[in-house]
Amino acid sequence: MKAVMAQTFGGPETLAVVDLPDPSPRAGQVLITTEAIGVGGVDALIRSGALAAYGTPSGHILGSEVAGTVAGVGEGVDPAWVGQRAWAFTGESGGYAELAIASSETLVPLPAGLSVVDAVTLGSSAMVAHFALRHAHFARGESVLVRGAAGGIGVVAVQLAARGGAGAVGVTTSSAERGDRLRGLGATRVLDRAGRGADDDPAAYDVIIDIVAGPDLPSFFGRLEPNGRMVVVGAMAGMPPADFGAQMVTAFRKSMSFATFSADTVPMPDRRAATAELFATAARGELEAVVHEVLPLDKAVSAHQKMEAGEVFGRIALTP
Ligand SMILES: NC(=O)c1ccc[n+]([C@@H]2O[C@H](COP(=O)([O-])OP(=O)(O)OC[C@H]3O[C@@H](n4cnc5c(N)ncnc54)[C@H](OP(=O)(O)O)[C@@H]3O)[C@@H](O)[C@H]2O)c1
Repeated sequence: MKAVMAQTFGGPETLAVVDLPDPSPRAGQVLITTEAIGVGGVDALIRSGALAAYGTPSGHILGSEVAGTVAGVGEGVDPAWVGQRAWAFTGESGGYAELAIASSETLVPLPAGLSVVDAVTLGSSAMVAHFALRHAHFARGESVLVRGAAGGIGVVAVQLAARGGAGAVGVTTSSAERGDRLRGLGATRVLDRAGRGADDDPAAYDVIIDIVAGPDLPSFFGRLEPNGRMVVVGAMAGMPPADFGAQMVTAFRKSMSFATFSADTVPMPDRRAATAELFATAARGELEAVVHEVLPLDKAVSAHQKMEAGEVFGRIALTP
């Protein structure tokens, strides 16, 4: 099979198209003939080595989610899966390939009306956005700010907040053009990356979903309402400053809550159920999969260069 290997930690040029023996599913696993492969910010972080401290590998096939047809099952897996079209989570590796292996526990059947490209575009990102809002105890009528809204997780968080009856949906993004596109998804206030916006911005939000973290994170404590909740789900701009904790305690009179959220803490059956529900919502036309571009698998380097250049709005999908 053809696959894309991340040969060493580094830039997009470390990705190489290689021919490998076809994999075989072990007990509990399925083999999928891929039809679409998701490309996300987390792939870029794994490729670069930024997540090496968490044990992410190098010298492996990159990619964590695929959609296609189940071509085989390992021991203990219901053979009725064979021939079914499904989305699957491959973990931290194995997705950028014509054939992928995944745990059968991650499989989500594709509903009629949802394309494989839309499935890998929503997939993990939509699931993370859903659980992050729940982790923040977001309730109808509350205001929500999504920091890093133009990415895979953000474009769904904006839509879910708007559909969930948010009183206001703020976004941070890097250009007015992106702001306009985010308004089309349900944003009502557009801020720049530093949190500056038009004069009519509400001073603060009940919930901040933060995909950016980095040096500017503490300045967003000032954007929280009393009893507001900030949930960090990503760190596209790196770690917050060393005095971040002190700045949080200094703002103690807001009674704010700061939390992190990782989908790793959500049991797989719950992840599957949420993903299936989000797919059904998209198939009904009530949730948009924001596809930046579809590229052939052997253009994975180009896909990563576009991510590095900050060009991607939503997500790129690869097709074998
Ligand atoms: N919590 C979980 O379970 C979980 C699961 C998967 C991934 N993640 C994490 O989520 C992050 C990836 O999320 P994603 O796929 O949505 O990201 P993404 O699509 O790559 O981009 C997110 C957005 O962040 C903004 N951004 C990028 N660099 C920035 C910077 N230096 N300063 C300010 N804004 C910046 C960009 O928008 P603008 O240019 O418009 O500002 C970009 O569109 C990673 O940190 C990953 O580890 C978490």
